Amino acid sequence: MSASYPATRLRRTRASAWSRALHRENLLTPADLIWPLFVTEGTGTEEPIGSLPGVSRWSVDLMAPRAKEAMALGIPCLALFPNTQAQRRSDDGREALNPDNLMCRAIRAIRDACGEGIGVLTDVALDPYTSHGQDGLVDPAGYVLNDATVEVLVGQSLNQAAAGADVIAPSDMMDGRISAIRAALEGDGHVNVQIMSYAAKYASAFYGPFRDAVGSSGLLKGDKKTYQMDPANGEEALREVAMDIAEGADSVMVKPGLPYLDIVRRVKERFEVPVFAYQVSGEYAMIEHAAAAGAGERDALVLETLLAFKRAGCSGVLTYHAAHAARLLGA
Ligand code: PBG
Repeated sequence: MSASYPATRLRRTRASAWSRALHRENLLTPADLIWPLFVTEGTGTEEPIGSLPGVSRWSVDLMAPRAKEAMALGIPCLALFPNTQAQRRSDDGREALNPDNLMCRAIRAIRDACGEGIGVLTDVALDPYTSHGQDGLVDPAGYVLNDATVEVLVGQSLNQAAAGADVIAPSDMMDGRISAIRAALEGDGHVNVQIMSYAAKYASAFYGPFRDAVGSSGLLKGDKKTYQMDPANGEEALREVAMDIAEGADSVMVKPGLPYLDIVRRVKERFEVPVFAYQVSGEYAMIEHAAAAGAGERDALVLETLLAFKRAGCSGVLTYHAAHAARLLGA
């Protein structure tokens, strides 16, 4: 008489480490990571960011060492964000067009030190340059103007491309900016400069520490809900992505990351294009604070959350944990 037993035992393939390795469906490697870096004025300057424990702003001369560190770790791409000096911020954010602004100097420093050895992705939006902290030009009522902003974003993109950016990443959420930027890049001969569009970017509560990092949090009045997406919406994200692909985006981004993995999956299944996610500053801070409070083990939390992006369908992840995760993966 045989005892009854389960039709199959899914635990069988989990019973030993070699078998778990053999059946593993997704793999996280340093090549999946994009490392966001904050740039500040000064020489030899490292400014720790209070709300992002373990993350600093670096002066331009310290960008090359960061880039070399990333290359040695196998991280293929950096994402740059400037902390513009207060006196260089204005209503119209014109510092974004200055060929010698922090962003352009950082791009050139990395390019000079690393050649084509690492990708440089640059953020296109006006919030690090405006005195009001909004991503675009505002009318007297404070409404962010779409078409007038797009014109400035085109200039900003050309400025970054001329400095040597490899990937233009518009994070502003204006309508029509991808086609305008693509046309301008082609017109200027930048045929191989990519566009990674922040296609589905939500008006999220998870961006707080980032706004400290680029120095816009004290300036921002109101919110960004007239251009960033409502967290309640999923179908609308698919429309945003469809538009950006039709307009010439090479890849699309979903942002924030973990709370929006359903969007990553829907975008990947619907469009079969390269999808990236941004594990944003508030997500990073949540992990760091949870670990500091003893609610979880830091390294395991970092690797599990990053792997979740791969499982959801991401080609890669922007994360402030990039260098740390790459070190863990290489060990
Ligand atoms: C702004 C921009 C933001 C982030 C990237 N680009 C913040 C915002 O929209 O207010 C957030 C990134 C993060 O929180 O880590 N153009």
